[in-house]
Amino acid sequence: MSSGTPSASPPVPPTSSGETASVAAARARTAGLEAEIARDPGRFRVLTGDRPTGALHLGHLLGTLDNRVRLQRAGVEVVLVVADYQVITDRDDAGDLPGTVREVVLDYLAAGIDPDRSTVFTHSAVPALNQLLLPFLSLVTVAELERNPTVKAEAADAARRQGRGMSGLLFTYPVHQAADILFCHGNLVPVGQDQLPHLEATRTVARRFNQRFAAARPYFPEPEALLTSAPVVLGNDGAKMSKSRGNALELRATDDDTAAFVRLAKTDSQRHITFEPEARPEVANLLTLGAHFAGTTPGLLAEQVGAAGAGRLKQVVTEALVEGLRPLRARRRELAADGPAVVADVLARGNARANAVADRTLADVRALLGTVYA
Ligand code: TRP
Repeated sequence: MSSGTPSASPPVPPTSSGETASVAAARARTAGLEAEIARDPGRFRVLTGDRPTGALHLGHLLGTLDNRVRLQRAGVEVVLVVADYQVITDRDDAGDLPGTVREVVLDYLAAGIDPDRSTVFTHSAVPALNQLLLPFLSLVTVAELERNPTVKAEAADAARRQGRGMSGLLFTYPVHQAADILFCHGNLVPVGQDQLPHLEATRTVARRFNQRFAAARPYFPEPEALLTSAPVVLGNDGAKMSKSRGNALELRATDDDTAAFVRLAKTDSQRHITFEPEARPEVANLLTLGAHFAGTTPGLLAEQVGAAGAGRLKQVVTEALVEGLRPLRARRRELAADGPAVVADVLARGNARANAVADRTLADVRALLGTVYA
């Protein structure tokens, strides 16, 4: 590998901002991976996805969706799981799943995911993927599962919001995600920092499976994290944008909703607009959003607005969002107007493809486990 980064974790110490060694290592590796993708996109298969808990929002677009479309266009095979089994990890009422799944798939298509090139499937339609969970669970200890910081955070959240104890499915979902990734031999997973522990869990499962059951010839790849460089998008209350906080701008929203979202966005009491992500996160977030859609940088946009203040900033950001999202929204409306067959067809094809791949993997796994009796 000519990335200049040793393939074993390089000894990168935590940085001053509290970044852990694993985040720093993933960041260091990502530049090399991007170079390899540009050189040989056919070597990679991306597996990633979303929990269908609601229509996707701006945070998804900037955080992951744009990146998936970029990878697809670069010639990387992209497989997207609509993780419907993950919805019931932390809630009793999954809501209208068929409706929500439809919204998520429409968002994918409107953003540029091409069902002829990429695979979009739902967890629950691919039994062989889910069966991989059983042998995989034998490869991890309860103590390891208990240490996963993202699971801990999500369990604490479920307890706070709904007084709910941690379900067995929530406890084990990093292993389920290992099945999501490994069923198709995914070797590249674009992730935000918070998902890195899960990718570590997947790498552990793959490594131990190979050691225990496929020592002669490793069967699963140890997938790598492609750390997304996009900053975390904040909602208009200043916290991380999320459906459950009610602070999000959905991709499908109208122009009026968009204007209202920006109008209500928190700013601060300093009049002069500057780009200072640490000291002025809310203003920086508006600048980041505006710059993204206006094709400029947050710093330049700040200079442009400067003394005109937050009112002018909001005007500029609203225009940039409305204009920038216009093509996506127009495509989305057209697709939605074509009726339910569009999404149904994408999922039918994606599920069929995913099932063919998962059946083959499960057959291989059963052969390696020695559980083929006929
Ligand atoms: N947990 C991810 C989320 O909440 C969705 C997901 C499910 C996923 N399976 C995955 C992401 C496998 C990456 C790889 O957004």
